[in-house]
Amino acid sequence: MSQIETLVFCSSEDLPEGTVKSRAMEGLSVAVARQGGRLYAFGGMCPHQHADFADGMLEPGGDITCSWHLWRFSMSTGECSSAEGVSVPVYPVREEEGEILVEADLSRLRP
Ligand code: FES
Repeated sequence: MSQIETLVFCSSEDLPEGTVKSRAMEGLSVAVARQGGRLYAFGGMCPHQHADFADGMLEPGGDITCSWHLWRFSMSTGECSSAEGVSVPVYPVREEEGEILVEADLSRLRP
């Protein structure tokens, strides 16, 4: 059974245009980026060797490149265009009353 929860990631002012941040939320590592006026939420650690996507480089078109070995990921779908079959989870994200909110299914974390 899924257990979708809405989590406060940060305040809107802490994530200006063109930036990406990551943090641990309820046992999940989550990154949120604001690019082109749009928000993206996805797994905060690179699946290759666990680099923090907070150090990643935002690319045109809604991609992020990992800072360690330059694998590139779509922030919309989570798919990696540098390694076949590799992806990161993506999460619904929205902005409400000055806060950035991420929805995550915590059922796999809490038995
Ligand atoms: S740790 Fe991200 S590409 Fe290697």
